[in-house]
Amino acid sequence: MHDIVIHVLGVAGLLALVSFLPPLAARFQVPFTVLLAAVGVALGAVIQTFAGMPGAGPFHDFLNSLAELDISSEVLLHIFLPVLLFETALAVDVRRLFDDIAPILLMAVVAVFVCTFAVGYAVSLFTSLGLVSCLLLGAIVASTDPAAVIGIFRDLGAPRRLTTLVEGESLLNDAAAIALFTLLLGMLTRKADGGAMMAALEFLRDFAGGVIVGYICGRVVCMLVEPVRNQPMAEITLTVAQTYLAYVLAEHYVGASGVVAVVTSALVISSVGRTRISPTTWGALEHVWRQLGFWANSMIFLLTAILVPRLMAQAGLEEVGLVLVVTAAAFAARGLVLFGLLPLFSWAGLSQRVSHSYKAVMLWGGLRGAVSLTLALAVTENVRVPERVQGFIAVLVTGFVFVTLFINGATLRPLIHLLKLDRLSPVERAMRNRALALSMDNIRDRVSAVARTYEVDAAVTDVMLTRYADRLKAIDLERQKEAPLRDEDRVTIGLVILVNREEELYYAHFSEGVVSRAVMDMLAGRSGRLLDAVKTQGRNGYRAFEEPFIAFSVWMRGASWLQRRFGIHAPLARRLSMRFEVLVAVRTVLRELLAFTRDKLARLLGDDVAFELEGMLVGRLGIVEQALSAMKLQYPDYAMVLQGRYVGRAALRLEHADYRAMRAESIISQEVLSDLERELDVRRRALERLPQLDVRFDVAELIRRVPLFAGLPEERVSTIAALLRARLALPGETIVRRGERGDAMFFVASGAVEVLVPNLAEPVKLGTGDFFGEMALLTRQRRNADVRAMGYCQLLVLDAKDFRRLVQKDPNLRSHFQAVAEARRQQPAQPAPAVS
Ligand code: CMP
Repeated sequence: MHDIVIHVLGVAGLLALVSFLPPLAARFQVPFTVLLAAVGVALGAVIQTFAGMPGAGPFHDFLNSLAELDISSEVLLHIFLPVLLFETALAVDVRRLFDDIAPILLMAVVAVFVCTFAVGYAVSLFTSLGLVSCLLLGAIVASTDPAAVIGIFRDLGAPRRLTTLVEGESLLNDAAAIALFTLLLGMLTRKADGGAMMAALEFLRDFAGGVIVGYICGRVVCMLVEPVRNQPMAEITLTVAQTYLAYVLAEHYVGASGVVAVVTSALVISSVGRTRISPTTWGALEHVWRQLGFWANSMIFLLTAILVPRLMAQAGLEEVGLVLVVTAAAFAARGLVLFGLLPLFSWAGLSQRVSHSYKAVMLWGGLRGAVSLTLALAVTENVRVPERVQGFIAVLVTGFVFVTLFINGATLRPLIHLLKLDRLSPVERAMRNRALALSMDNIRDRVSAVARTYEVDAAVTDVMLTRYADRLKAIDLERQKEAPLRDEDRVTIGLVILVNREEELYYAHFSEGVVSRAVMDMLAGRSGRLLDAVKTQGRNGYRAFEEPFIAFSVWMRGASWLQRRFGIHAPLARRLSMRFEVLVAVRTVLRELLAFTRDKLARLLGDDVAFELEGMLVGRLGIVEQALSAMKLQYPDYAMVLQGRYVGRAALRLEHADYRAMRAESIISQEVLSDLERELDVRRRALERLPQLDVRFDVAELIRRVPLFAGLPEERVSTIAALLRARLALPGETIVRRGERGDAMFFVASGAVEVLVPNLAEPVKLGTGDFFGEMALLTRQRRNADVRAMGYCQLLVLDAKDFRRLVQKDPNLRSHFQAVAEARRQQPAQPAPAVS
């Protein structure tokens, strides 16, 4: 048969075989990878016995095709491995990963080194092979495979943190182990040993290079998906292409680690891309990648496991002994890091404490898998590696991988159970029972309604209802036995629910197109930290986090400075419009949360707790409303523009839903729908552009608001206008500082300021039409008080030299300023009299 057809038959046959395994694994409660490995080995044995025998038919051809299938490690390394790593990294919750980054890095990088050296030295004691070969073996077995472990965790409902720790570790340690592997393989084949220092530097360069390439590639993809937005096929294709491009770019052009680049790019895409890639596409993207990852993992496992019987045929008693040495050394190294180094980290305050039971599971769950097998295969195919070393590595790695899979993998489930990690905490159990009781009540009502609608016989319905009543009774009984939840706990539970719900609502508004991406970026990502604060400090933690964006950021101050100093308006305009949008989004979500608390949480947590939660939400709402009305007062026109934009987005959404409904009812064809969608997209893009806020002032118009100048003739106003400069002061900003030299005076065109006079108990408030900062200019002394903006203030600034020129020409004005200054000096402050 033709070569290529043989290959197609082999691969298709394997895929067909793989498709039966997940249901089998679920049925017999064995980790999928363990089953995969077992089937692979069995298949390998069958091939060894029957391949080459005379015969015909598809099954015979299939076996022959597998026997002849030239599975090169290159295919596994360059085609399947990047996919597998990208998929694993994409599924990781990057924020959670960073919460535990210290222990994860310790396990990923330090543990890889410890394992490499422990295994390397231990094995070298028992063989005549060189140390570098033994270290290479150590690096290959240092990478852990989370697939089986995570599968078990998911089945048993193990804690989220444990999952993140294991997932994060195995993700980054693959990268570290492969980088180390490449380095050691290079040393072994080139025979050029540049010393430990050089090797360490090379490792760092590979790793850092990979991170940089991956970061750039991930960022570029996030940028590129913008133009192809709402085109799932294109967006997903872009991520697939990116994976290989990042890999090749790093590996062949930069000379850095390709796998590190792939992992980094996936982490960037999973954290930043989530808001760049359209939400519907994100779901599809995860789906496609899960599928690709499943294929890659299955193929790596099967293709390498098939080779096992042939390899093991060479193995003797000595190899069995060495596998035991590898196993003992690898687990001892892991134990040392987990129980020796990790507590030091927590002790030094670098990481949260990891409990002993978590550590025990992490130790026992250090299974090895696809990556180790692929690397071992790569060694066996490298012609520059001495044949003895090839055989040695192949047998020991495969042996060790299978020991971990069949012994640790098979016993991990009972261990987790023994350590009670699959049980809910008392608080969680109490919540579970409350939720269950509520839903039972609900369902009972609904069951009766359904029975009435479909006219089901009363006898049948009664049986059903009694069953629900019994369950309800059982739950009630259990609830009576459990210790009542403390108020503190109930509030914390409520806050945790609210924080999660808040994030969900932002995403919901974002996916509906009401909240823009820029705003989403700002709001998302707060929840992780907020959750931690709530979990550790309860309600105080929540309060400490209230609306941090209400305070003016450094960026805002910088933008305001640019506008004031150099008349550059764009950055301030952008900042202010973002602020406006954020405030509107937060206000909407807070109102929804209030309703949610009243409707749902009150029943779950009790009226008293709901009341307290509502109080906190109302407090936040008050702050937001205040900030919003301040902005509306300041920029009434712009507020209208932004509100129009909100309504516009909602209208587009409704329009889209309408078109889709018409398509579903076959009123319009797919072509017409696509045409309408294209047009909608154009309008949506136009709305996405942030409208610019005009913060430029019309100085002549502002001058008229100052009573001092109001009565002056037109030409005097225009000469004064030429001397004055407009400036916006932000709420809380100190405009004049006590003790400084005076270089200007100010007129308040709108807003209010407070003067903090040192010997007055209360600050003096000045409003529209008032002026300040005149005293220092008149007396040439230093400023005698702080002046602070109470809200947004439009000010007119008169520089010192212009002030002098003005009062020289106009003695009336001079005596007016002097009179006011004198009155102020006399205390209390006098309102400014009109100029004669
Ligand atoms: P100057 O000293 O240049 O800077 C601080 C300003 O605060 C001062 O000018 C006055 O304009 C203003 N100021 C000081 N004392 C009072 C007061 N008692 N009432 C109102 N304004 C005052």
